[in-house]
Amino acid sequence: MTFPVQRPRRLRRTEALRGMTRETRLSTSGFVYPMFVGPGKATRVEISSMPGVYQQSVDHMLEECREVEGLGIPGVILFGIPEHKDERGSEASSPSGVVQRAIEAIRRAKLNLVVITDVCLCEYTSHGHCGVIENGEVANDPTLELLAEEALSHARAGADMVAPSDMMDGRVAAIRQALDAHGFSQLPIFSYAAKYCSGFYGPFREAAQSAPQFGDRRSYQMDPANAREALHEVALDLEEGADIIMVKPALPYLDIIRQVRDRFDVPVGAYNVSGEYAMVKAAARNGWLEEKRIVLEVLTSIQRAGAEIVLTYHAKDVARWTKAC
Ligand code: PBG
Repeated sequence: MTFPVQRPRRLRRTEALRGMTRETRLSTSGFVYPMFVGPGKATRVEISSMPGVYQQSVDHMLEECREVEGLGIPGVILFGIPEHKDERGSEASSPSGVVQRAIEAIRRAKLNLVVITDVCLCEYTSHGHCGVIENGEVANDPTLELLAEEALSHARAGADMVAPSDMMDGRVAAIRQALDAHGFSQLPIFSYAAKYCSGFYGPFREAAQSAPQFGDRRSYQMDPANAREALHEVALDLEEGADIIMVKPALPYLDIIRQVRDRFDVPVGAYNVSGEYAMVKAAARNGWLEEKRIVLEVLTSIQRAGAEIVLTYHAKDVARWTKAC
């Protein structure tokens, strides 16, 4: 008979006891703050579905990077919105592209931030797909070369890490090969390995103006119903040379984060995406949920599931809240 000997409530009586026996300690030390960089000067536009998140020119982005550094957040991930989009997304690998200039500005300012870049074509192509189009389809192999060029140009500009998010087969190998061939064998690849075809990217596509102009991303991003396939994708990316792997989105895929954490012995990241952020913000604005409490609970759950690295738009808020207490 366990009761009355066993009484789990004994350890819940006071905050001191709860704190001492807590299993997951929410930490900002693995946080990455996503940022959207656009062309021009002195421009800053709030994304309507993502209050507190901006599409901004390099000067404003740099200002925000200083704030991020000051809050003790270790890294940022940069997304570029180019001046011109075309069929092949050529601005993605331009040495004077928005992301390349943003990286250089952060480097010049000598900020102590891990600068990660998103490597994908969808922000740069006129059709909004993550690869080049041939015969009405997203063509895998011709896209690899462009992604490798993009990653290389980020490396040349001074990025600390590249993060391919396109979901083409073989992109990690192609990027690894290009980096190694040009003196960047030390540059890690943070692969969006298990990236689902998710409705939760809606607000991001407003931010990056990257909604596909025809069709959808189901032929390259994963089916939300699949878990085993995620493990297969991760295994392939690791074989191809990925250093860190990511599960995306986070909240609807906590089971995937846990399975990946248990199965593979590399750092695991999770992306708490735009739609997850927008839901919390919208409900909080309506007074339907208590923002701080919900955000802390969400991020704790992502870390409890096993993610060491968390990409989140809530990063600055959490850093402020946890600093204060
Ligand atoms: C680019 C990319 C997307 C996100 C990160 N990289 C959008 C997409 O695949 O449609 C989504 C991030 C977010 O929703 O916060 N491929």
